[in-house]
Amino acid sequence: MSDSIVVTDDGAVRIIRMNRPEKKNALTQPMYAAMTRAMREAEANAAIRCLVLAGGPGAFCAGADIGEFLESAQSGGLRPHTLEFLKVLANNQKPLVAAVGGLAVGIGTTMLFHCDHVVAATDATFTTPFLKLALIPEAASSLLAPMRMGYARAFSLLIMGRPLTAAEAKDAGIVNTIVDSADVDATALKAAQEIAALPPKTLAVARTLMRGHLDEVINQIDAEAAHFRDLLKSDEARAAFTAFLARRK
Ligand code: COA
Repeated sequence: MSDSIVVTDDGAVRIIRMNRPEKKNALTQPMYAAMTRAMREAEANAAIRCLVLAGGPGAFCAGADIGEFLESAQSGGLRPHTLEFLKVLANNQKPLVAAVGGLAVGIGTTMLFHCDHVVAATDATFTTPFLKLALIPEAASSLLAPMRMGYARAFSLLIMGRPLTAAEAKDAGIVNTIVDSADVDATALKAAQEIAALPPKTLAVARTLMRGHLDEVINQIDAEAAHFRDLLKSDEARAAFTAFLARRK
């Protein structure tokens, strides 16, 4: 298990915490792999009835690691653990609660479209600067965001890269509850315990019905990934990654 992902079980709730604070929880391939493993193991464990995805107080997740983007652009290498993570996330049978403190960037925001209940800090911000990196939206967000918040708001978020505040994200249907930063984890855990106390088989049926067309979601993840792989190697994208990594503060 990567040290950058910390998995703890609290009764029937599994907490999967991104823990790379020095990089604002930017996700590397080993981190995706560790999160996937933690979800898969929970799937096979009847004692776990709900999952919490959490980060740190100032940063839930700064998105995919841009250094890895550049490496795979240069080597032509695939990023297999990202795709595997996205599919396991979309296909995951246990309810998912997110505890979002601070920044949620890129996949830090798009993973929330697969969560069942999202708790955000008052200072949380949601941004998907895909186009600024000459990339496209992933995680089936190109399908789920317009469905969830309407095309106009989805375009502003996913394409124009305009941030949403916690209040705007709640209004857009991504966030359920906004609390003080210090209370995010406890509030998310409480919601997860509430969900975990529901009759599990009935919950699974209800949840499957509510989540609808999983095939469509998986197909969209694959379609996005095919474009993403090509775009990652473009001159525009490489220039954007290099500029980010070379920036001066
Ligand atoms: N990939 C790689 N490194 C990242 C990163 C990412 N996605 N996000 C942050 N980091 C690194 C920074 O390079 C910095 O590293 P350093 O201290 O070695 O220079 C460290 O994390 C802290 O980030 P910093 O930029 O100093 O913090 P900030 O609070 O000023 O800004 C962000 C935070 C998230 C707004 C800013 O780092 C950012 O824009 N990151 C890129 C987000 C992104 O585009 N993600 C991909 C979306 S597809």
